This record gives sequence, structure tokens and C-alpha cells, in this order.
Amino acid sequence: MALTDKRVVIVGGTSGIGLATAKAFLARSASVVIASRSPSNLSLAGKALDGEVTAMALDFRQDTMVKSFFEAVGAFDHLVVTAGEVVMGDFPTILLSAAQDAFESKFWGQYRIVRGALPVLNSGASITLTSGVYGIRPPRGAAVVSAINSAIEGLVRGLAIDLAPLRVNAVCPGIVDTPIYSTIPAAERRAMFEDLGRKLPVGRIARAEDVAQSYVYLAENGFATGSVVLVDGGGHLV
Ligand SMILES: NC(=O)c1ccc[n+]([C@@H]2O[C@H](COP(=O)([O-])OP(=O)(O)OC[C@H]3O[C@@H](n4cnc5c(N)ncnc54)[C@H](OP(=O)(O)O)[C@@H]3O)[C@@H](O)[C@H]2O)c1
Repeated sequence: MALTDKRVVIVGGTSGIGLATAKAFLARSASVVIASRSPSNLSLAGKALDGEVTAMALDFRQDTMVKSFFEAVGAFDHLVVTAGEVVMGDFPTILLSAAQDAFESKFWGQYRIVRGALPVLNSGASITLTSGVYGIRPPRGAAVVSAINSAIEGLVRGLAIDLAPLRVNAVCPGIVDTPIYSTIPAAERRAMFEDLGRKLPVGRIARAEDVAQSYVYLAENGFATGSVVLVDGGGHLV
């Protein structure tokens, strides 16, 4: 399915994997709407992208905002969601409310976006959500993330049946160098990435561009539905 002149909405498209995905769709001559909460992220991402781009404010945890967002967007062809915040830590120390906040963001946020988009998705549309390799291969401290990622992949399989012929898929990234790690001091972060990369069969962690290609593939391939594309440098094997 050609992407030329198709309209793509990327929730989370102002940073990291979402921003790289916006670039990848623009390179295929699609037009792109990027959405997230922070005005500075929206403005910086808008400047970083070349092509037909609209940047719109959205907090996907808020029902009313999601409804008015899709009313303002109008008809479009492909939905991508990369937004989501999670919590990591030793299980007994994670407050139940923190685990619930993470579900409210990454799981219920994606769920809410799918519901909100349905009335304005064109025929032939696709939806691609985001899980993560910790769903299948959690290290210590990732129980909540693992549960969220598995729930998203289960949701995708169910929606591929319920919403057919609309196609619903997920991308499952491994470790990717993005601003999600920006709270870790730079030197510590570099050392962590090198250490994690050395343990992977490919010898390095991912760049956002490595993962972005998978969202384009799932939008383009009219036979892909209920699929989870795992792009983790072989992390699930080691
Ligand atoms: N990076 C990794 O190593 C990795 C590994 C596996 C899975 N993943 C998953 O991949 C996805 C993208 O991660 P990333 O690394 O690209 O993160 P990122 O660089 O931090 O980007 C996250 C994006 O989501 C937006 N966002 C967060 N909360 C939002 C909300 N409530 N409403 C609307 N937008 C919101 C952020 O913008 P605002 O702050 O402006 O809202 C930002 O644009 C996440 O689901 C993450 O769990 C990442």
C-alpha cells in the first residue's frame, strides 16, 4: 500500500521512536500529524521535520482531550502510538498507585486512542501500537512494564479480530537510545548503553531509526494484522 499523500497520526511523535517514525513516513511522502503534551517538544519536533507536518497538543490520558483531538484531526489513514510512560523498580517498593499510573499511560492511553480514532479512520486504515521486549524477556525490576507490554500485545490480537478489516499491529522495540533515558546522567547513560549493547547479538542497542522502519512496514503491508514486530537486536535470545 503506497503511503504517498496518506495522512498518518503519530501520538508520541515529538520524541524518540515517534519522531523517527514521523521522519520515516514523511520520507514516503505521507503527511503527518504529531501529538504530545509538551509545547516545547511540539515546537522542537515541528522544526526538526521536513514536509507536511501538523503538531497538536494532546494528553492521551484524558478522554475529553482525545475526543476533541480526533474531531480536530478529521479523516486519516494510519494511526501510530508511541507515547507512554512506565515504571521500573524492585516490585515490593513500587507503589500500587505508580503501577496504576503506568497502566493509565501506556496501556489505557493506547486503548483510549484507538477508541477515539475509530470514527475518523478511513477504509483501508491501519493501527500500530507499541509494546516492548520486556514483555517477553523482563530483567529484574521490570514486572510492571512486562505486564503492560504483554497486555498491549494481547489487545492487538483481539482488536485485529474485532475491528477487521481494519488492521491492528504492534511494534515491540528492544533498548533504543531516546530521550526516555534523559534523566540518567550522560556518562552513566553512555556506559549503560555500551554495556547493554555488548550483550546483544548485534553488538549495539538500537537507534530510533532502526525501530521506525517497522511502523512504516506495518502501515504499508496490507496482509499484516494481529502481528507483533520484534526489533530488539536479538535481546529476547540472550
Ligand atoms: N526507548 C526504549 O529503550 C524503549 C524500549 C522498549 C519500548 N519502548 C517504548 O517505546 C515507546 C516510545 O518510547 P521512546 O523511547 O520513544 O520515548 P520518548 O522519547 O520519551 O517519547 C515518548 C513520547 O510520548 C509522549 N508522551 C508521553 N506521555 C504522553 C501523554 N500522556 N500524552 C501524549 N503524549 C505523551 C512524549 O511527549 P510529551 O512529553 O511532550 O507528552 C514523547 O513524545 C514507549 O511506549 C516506550 O515504553 C521504548
